[in-house]
Amino acid sequence: MSTDVQAVAARIAHETARRRTFAIISHPDAGKTTLTEKLLLYSGMIRTAGMVAGRKGNKAAASDWMGMEQERGISITASAMQFRYKNTVINILDTPGHQDFSEDTYRTLTAADSVIMVIDAAKGVEAQTRKLFDACRLRSIPVFTLVNKMDQPARDPIDLMAEVEEVLGIQASALDWPIGRGREFQGVVDRKTKVAYLYTKSAKGNAAKPDVFSAPLDELEASRLHDPDTLASVRDEIELLEAAGNPFSVEEFLAGRVTPVFFGSALTNFGIEPLFDAFIELAPPPSARVADVVDGDGGDTNDEITIEPTDSMFSAYVFKIQANMDPRHRDCLAFLRINSGQFEKDMNVKHHRIGKKIRLARPHSLMVAERDTIEEAFPGDIIGVISPGTFRIGDTISAGAGTRGDFRFKRLPQFQPEHFARVMPRDVGKRKGLDKGLVQLSTEGAIQILREWSDPGAFPFVAAVGRLQFEVLQYRLEDEYGAKTQLDMLPFQCSAWLMGKVDTFKKPTSAKIVRDEFDRPMVLFTSVWEKNYARDQNPDHELVDHA
Ligand code: G4P
Repeated sequence: MSTDVQAVAARIAHETARRRTFAIISHPDAGKTTLTEKLLLYSGMIRTAGMVAGRKGNKAAASDWMGMEQERGISITASAMQFRYKNTVINILDTPGHQDFSEDTYRTLTAADSVIMVIDAAKGVEAQTRKLFDACRLRSIPVFTLVNKMDQPARDPIDLMAEVEEVLGIQASALDWPIGRGREFQGVVDRKTKVAYLYTKSAKGNAAKPDVFSAPLDELEASRLHDPDTLASVRDEIELLEAAGNPFSVEEFLAGRVTPVFFGSALTNFGIEPLFDAFIELAPPPSARVADVVDGDGGDTNDEITIEPTDSMFSAYVFKIQANMDPRHRDCLAFLRINSGQFEKDMNVKHHRIGKKIRLARPHSLMVAERDTIEEAFPGDIIGVISPGTFRIGDTISAGAGTRGDFRFKRLPQFQPEHFARVMPRDVGKRKGLDKGLVQLSTEGAIQILREWSDPGAFPFVAAVGRLQFEVLQYRLEDEYGAKTQLDMLPFQCSAWLMGKVDTFKKPTSAKIVRDEFDRPMVLFTSVWEKNYARDQNPDHELVDHA
C-alpha cells in the first residue's frame, strides 16, 4: 500500500471511530427538544438554551420550511445536525416529535446507530415511545433511556424501570440513580463509582450548566440534602439494586438486549451531563452494513456483501427525500447516510439503480439554522444532495477505490399504514398535476399509493402511517402542483402485508385487499380486532406489519 493510501485509510478509520450517529425518540412532550437543546448547550454550539429549531412558538426556526409548519409551530420534517461534543463528532437525526408521525420517522431510524429514548417520569412508557422503540428493535440498535422530568412529581423509579421491561421487552439497567424526586430532586449517584452529584442552578431560566458538587455516596453528609431522609432512602434503593437489579453489560447493550437507564431533568440540566458522557463512551460508532449483490439488470442474486465503514470505497444510501425545503428554490433534497469511505465535494459516484455515473452537486450538511456546503464527510455522516428526480428512497451510490460490482443496501422497511383515503381533483383539468404530485410524494415516501387488487387501473388510494401526512399531501398538491383536492377518508384503521396466496385468504367482509407500489398484496382492516380475527381464520397465511 502506498503511504498516501495508508494515510487515507487511517484517516477514515479515525473519523469513523469518533462518530456517533443517533436519534432521540420520545412521546410528544417528554422532552426531546429540550434534551437536544441541552446537548447543543453542553457542546458549546449555543451559548444559552432556548434557541433550537422546532421549539414551539419559535417562528424563525430553521426546520419551519413550510407555511403549514409555521402556522402550527411544529416541525414536520426530520433533518440532521452535526456538531462536536468533547472529541466526538455527533450526528443527531431529528425525528418529528408531534402527535402524528410518518414513515419518515421510521426511515430516519435506519440511519441511526443508536437511540436515546426519553420517558416522562410521571407518565412512563407512552404509546409513541412504544411504536418508535419497535422500529429500533427491528435492527436491534442499542437504546439509552433517559427518565426525564425528575424535577416534577415522578413515579417510583423502580416501577418505571419495571414498566420499560414489561412494555418494551428489554432489560433495564440503571447506570445512575436519582437523589430525591420532584422538588427534592437534587442529583444522581453514579452506580459504578458510587459518587453522588448534587446540582444547584447557576443561571436564571436554566440557560447554563448548573453548579455541581460531588462526593462519594458513603461520605455524603445528609445535611447537604434538602431533606436528610432522602440520603437514607437512596442508600437503601442502591443496595436493593445491587442485590436484585439487572447487571449492565456493554455486549448486551450493543446487541439491543439491555438499556442503560439514566435519571434527570433536561429542563434544569440536572443529571444530563452523566448521560451525555456515558453516551459518547458507550454508543457505537458506525458499523458494517449488509448489501445485496445484484446482477447487471438490478435483479437479485441471493448473494450478500458486508461493507465495513473503513472500506476505502465510498458508499451511501438515501433514507429520506424532501422536496421544496426552501420555497424560493423549489429544490428537492435527498438525504444520504454514508456507510463507508470518504466523501469529497463534487465527487462522481455510481448510482446503482440507474447504473450511471453522476456528480453529487452542492452537497449540504444540515446545521441548525442554515445549510452549509460541505467539503468532505465520513461514515455515519448525513449529507443532503440536490436531487431533481435522480434519487428514490433506498437508492445506493458508491465511488472510489475498491469499488465492487452492483450491489444495493438492504431495502428500508415499510410500515403498515393506518390511514387511508381517496384523493380526487376538485377540478378535473388538474388531474395531471395531481398524478405527478402523487408520484413525487410517494417517491419521497410521504405517502403510499395503493390500488384495487382486482382492478389496478382504477383511481388509486393513498395511505399513510400518520394522519397528518394527508394534510401535508393536500397542502403540497395545491401549493406545488396547483391541484386542489378532495380527500375522502376510508374506514380502515390498520393493515398488513399478506404472505400467502390471495385467492385462498378468508377475508373478513369489511376488509379490503389492495396492492402496494411493488404489487405486493395488502389487506386493509376496519379494526385491530378484525385483523386479529383474520389472523385466527387464516393459519396458513401470514399478516405482517412491516415489509
Ligand atoms: P418534545 O420535544 O418531546 O415534544 O418535548 P419538549 O422538549 O418540547 O418539552 C415539552 C415540555 O416539557 C416543554 O414545556 C418543556 O419545557 C418541558 N420539559 C422538558 N423537559 C423537562 C424537565 O426535565 N422538567 C420539566 N419540569 N419540564 C420539562 P412547555 O411549557 O410545553 O414548552 P416551553 O414553553 O417550555 O417551550
